[in-house]
Amino acid sequence: MTWLVNCGALGIFDSGVGGLTVVRAVQELLPREAIIYLGDTARVPYGSKSPETIRRFSDEDVRYLLQHDVKAVVVACNTATAHALPMLEQKYRVPIIGVIEAGVEAVLADPNSQRVGIIATRGTIASHAYQHALAQRRTGLRIIAQATPLLVPLVEENWLNEEATKLVLQKYISPMLDKGIDTLLLACTHYPLLVPMLQEITAGAVRIVDSATTCAEHLRRELLRLDLLNEGEGDGILQIGLTDLSEQFEELAERFLRRLPPRITRVELG
Ligand code: DGL
Repeated sequence: MTWLVNCGALGIFDSGVGGLTVVRAVQELLPREAIIYLGDTARVPYGSKSPETIRRFSDEDVRYLLQHDVKAVVVACNTATAHALPMLEQKYRVPIIGVIEAGVEAVLADPNSQRVGIIATRGTIASHAYQHALAQRRTGLRIIAQATPLLVPLVEENWLNEEATKLVLQKYISPMLDKGIDTLLLACTHYPLLVPMLQEITAGAVRIVDSATTCAEHLRRELLRLDLLNEGEGDGILQIGLTDLSEQFEELAERFLRRLPPRITRVELG
């Protein structure tokens, strides 16, 4: 397909439409930036796949975005960042920004964070990427990491206010609360939609760090540092390409983006 914008746009990719939570945060903070979003909906989820497969898929995603001359790539997917970011950074010359660094910085910005709970896909937790990054930077930090594989399907089903979702969350979060966490890091694209229910479950006693918002802030600092920030006039265009258009892709995209998405196109990788 022909994109309306190419040169100078930001490329953002995720395993599916969940990364639109990052797009929303980026658009709020950096409205001038044009964005080409790629969601690999034909192969979602990445969270249950092997590290090799996640690296191969992520590599194909980046190659696709580079064909459209993006100035920087944002890996909006936590699982892809956890397993593929070092490989991608080594392989490509364009700046590649993942979600982990930002989440870790946001946790450590509060000196009172001493016991941190992390929830994410199985792949992200198994990679230990968040655990290592946090432990390296603050000695004595207590980290309680929990894979929460049932949450992505619940969010995709829009079960955001269902009792069943509350029960699942309580099952995952209660042991963390028993261990006295003061911070809960949401290390998955889908989890920002669960913030109201999480606030209720944690009774406001825990600081909730959402990696979508923190990623946008981190991206802004990186673009400034690299002199890549768009200083032009007017708002940037958002274009969304998905590798598969399922029945509910538009409704899902609207939910993650929190507004009507622009026309979505099916794209081929490779
Ligand atoms: N985008 C993934 C993540 O942030 C969640 C969905 C998936 O498993 O692909 O880890």
